[in-house]
Amino acid sequence: QDVLKVGIAGLGTVGASVVRLIAKRDNRLAEAAGRPIRVTAVTARSRRKDRGIDLSGVRWAADPVSLAADPDIDVFVELVGGAEGPAREAVEMALSKGKAVVTANKALLAAHGPALARKAEAKGVALNFEAAVAGGIPVIKTLRESLLGNTIERVYGILNGTCNYILTRMAEEGIAFEDCLKDAQKLGYAEADPTFDVDGFDTAHKLSLLTSLAFGTLVDTKGISIEGIRSIKPVDLRMAEELGYRVKLLGVAQRTADGVEQRVHPTFVPKDAAIAQVNGVLNAVAIDADAVDLTLVGPGAGGDATASAVIADIVDVARGHRTAPFIRPVAALTKPSRAPM
Ligand code: NDP
Ligand code: HSE
Repeated sequence: QDVLKVGIAGLGTVGASVVRLIAKRDNRLAEAAGRPIRVTAVTARSRRKDRGIDLSGVRWAADPVSLAADPDIDVFVELVGGAEGPAREAVEMALSKGKAVVTANKALLAAHGPALARKAEAKGVALNFEAAVAGGIPVIKTLRESLLGNTIERVYGILNGTCNYILTRMAEEGIAFEDCLKDAQKLGYAEADPTFDVDGFDTAHKLSLLTSLAFGTLVDTKGISIEGIRSIKPVDLRMAEELGYRVKLLGVAQRTADGVEQRVHPTFVPKDAAIAQVNGVLNAVAIDADAVDLTLVGPGAGGDATASAVIADIVDVARGHRTAPFIRPVAALTKPSRAPM
């Protein structure tokens, strides 16, 4: 059978886990995909770093853009990060060459998702981003495929593992915000610039993608009112606990008479509510629809959890399974939001 040749840009927390898990699950993935899947080329900033992965026989490309243009790869996996620069240029290059793209980069998709989806549509290739929202939780496939028979009224949840980890440890152990953040960085949960996590932007990026998939609207972050968790202290969380609440950073998108309202803010959640039990790096996504109400809970960040979603996307490419990146062709997506509050 034809080998699916995978090129991976970025070998950090997520990229290294993807390389390791593809090698480890080699046979199982080949059976599922109906053809072998091999990482044949990679790139990162440093060639010297010990990443704890076996790269023997794997070619090194000079940079993400040249990897994306490499005629000898079938799918380009972008795990570099950032809305602009090499990540954007490389994804654009891969799509322009008619290669399928898999990415975990919510910042890129929140800024340029529809434009990239147009390019993917024009070339008839996949643009898969399961790992971009809620790490290992298969929420993109759920919205993009499984719930298409529903009218969705609301989608909301805990969408940032770093913030939930910080809030949980501050509440349970009384540890200071800065120390919790440092630990989240050491564990590989935080963004390269953790401002994106703690100031709510990462949650907003993810929410904008969920909103588009749930309501068939264009991805829009400008209409989101955003408040993060930077000013919250352990004492605030103790007080909340005494009053019967936990504090969670929630992203909420709901249908209103004026359009879809999107917001991100810390929220008092009653202690006995299901979402209050979602602690540490776990995320939760609740979807209220006419036929089905459900809540998905699982690891929202971390190498292996995120790699699990990236690999599922690669297997979909290997199988030739392709859906419109944002449910329907970009030209059919509607304007999303009511004005920012
Ligand atoms: P890391 O910072 O751990 O890894 C980034 C990788 O990109 C590194 O290998 C780095 O090289 C490489 N890189 C950076 N700049 C360049 C460049 N200019 N040219 C070539 N390579 C470059 O990030 P993560 O693995 O944590 O995240 C990757 C993506 O996945 C991001 O979009 C992030 O938002 C997303 N994501 C992350 C999750 C997580 O839990 N960490 C979860 C879900 C999504 P080098 O190693 O040599 O420095
Ligand atoms: N920094 C992100 C988080 C990674 O903590 O949730 C997963 O998208």
